[in-house]
Amino acid sequence: MAKTIYRAAVIGVGNIGRQAHLPGYSSCAGVELAAICDTNPERLARVAEQYGVDKEHTYTDYRQMYEKEHLDVVSVCTPTWAHYDQTVDALKQGIHVMCEKPTAMNTEETVKMVKAADAAGKTLAVGWNNRFRLDATTLRKYYDAGLFGPIYYAKSGWLRRRGNPHGWFTKKELSGGGPLIDCGVHALDLTHWLMGQPQPISVTASTYCKFGNYDVDGIGQYWAESGNEEGVFDTEDLASAFIKFANGATMMYDVSWAYNGRNTGIYTQLHGEKAGADLDPLKIYGEVERNIVDFEPHLNLQVNAQEKKVHNFIASLRGEETLLCPGYESIVIAQIVDAIYESAQTGETVKIEPVS
Ligand SMILES: NC(=O)c1ccc[n+]([C@@H]2O[C@H](COP(=O)([O-])OP(=O)(O)OC[C@H]3O[C@@H](n4cnc5c(N)ncnc54)[C@H](O)[C@@H]3O)[C@@H](O)[C@H]2O)c1
Repeated sequence: MAKTIYRAAVIGVGNIGRQAHLPGYSSCAGVELAAICDTNPERLARVAEQYGVDKEHTYTDYRQMYEKEHLDVVSVCTPTWAHYDQTVDALKQGIHVMCEKPTAMNTEETVKMVKAADAAGKTLAVGWNNRFRLDATTLRKYYDAGLFGPIYYAKSGWLRRRGNPHGWFTKKELSGGGPLIDCGVHALDLTHWLMGQPQPISVTASTYCKFGNYDVDGIGQYWAESGNEEGVFDTEDLASAFIKFANGATMMYDVSWAYNGRNTGIYTQLHGEKAGADLDPLKIYGEVERNIVDFEPHLNLQVNAQEKKVHNFIASLRGEETLLCPGYESIVIAQIVDAIYESAQTGETVKIEPVS
């Protein structure tokens, strides 16, 4: 039987912890925000006051929090290097986990996290908020209804003209890489999910770092509230890839923090045998009775995708909804990311084998 009240905690109350997980748990019926953890004591105290968490339930060491708080669920919202230990330790203690994207530093860690969830019989969810956007769920509904037929070609990416995040994001040992593993995984996961999640078989890719810590006027601050005070920049700032799938489909993909071109936002183009689509703005390209017909669905309902992902996680534990972002679906995304970095380094096409 589902629990009445879920005791929830958030580790890492920086940007995404405050933008998605704290409001998500606070607005979810039957959830008590029991504790929070952050290695930055000032931020921890400020956020505790904002969310009404007593000082005795704030921690700078997540292990103490796991031991003392009898948690049911935890969100891992720390820099990527910390995801693996914090997630696996929670699962071993019988705590369900929602981990932010990218799931981990690489495929090996991601697979071990999924196996830890299986071994513990607990849920591992990953924070792929773009799957919860109303335009995305509408498109996926059309895909499931067969509107597009088989999708054999897709384009995907997120190009920023100048948009580096600061802090730990630009230091590879903390982040795992640059725009590819940061914002790029959102586009990759979203497009792959909308294609019906075909099995990737090979990747040919290049990465570049032509701008690094650029110095131009008129650029706003991007994210990250922690890490890397010394300002190391040792990741790529652009990645491009050609990905092949076992069903014969292919994807062209590119992502940048900095390049000389227009800002695209997250973009997805799907090309199926019966119809195609652009996402954002949502537009369908089809044929009706030998006429070429385009249409743009009217979507009036606003969905806060960041909060919805947290609500879906809790609703899935209650047996009320299907979990939209189960951890195991992140394994192929991690494999594609690893293969892009390997192909860029070796100059060769990299084959991908399914993980059992
Ligand atoms: N889904 C999304 O749209 C989205 C958006 C931004 C970031 N993210 C992801 O969320 C994660 C966090 O990113 P962010 O932008 O919030 O970073 P951030 O630097 O703004 O916040 C991270 C917080 O974690 C704390 N922290 C660092 N190490 C810690 C540790 N070992 N234990 C406890 N706390 C620790 C920091 O003090 C900081 O408050 C990353 O994996 C990032 O990729 C997801």
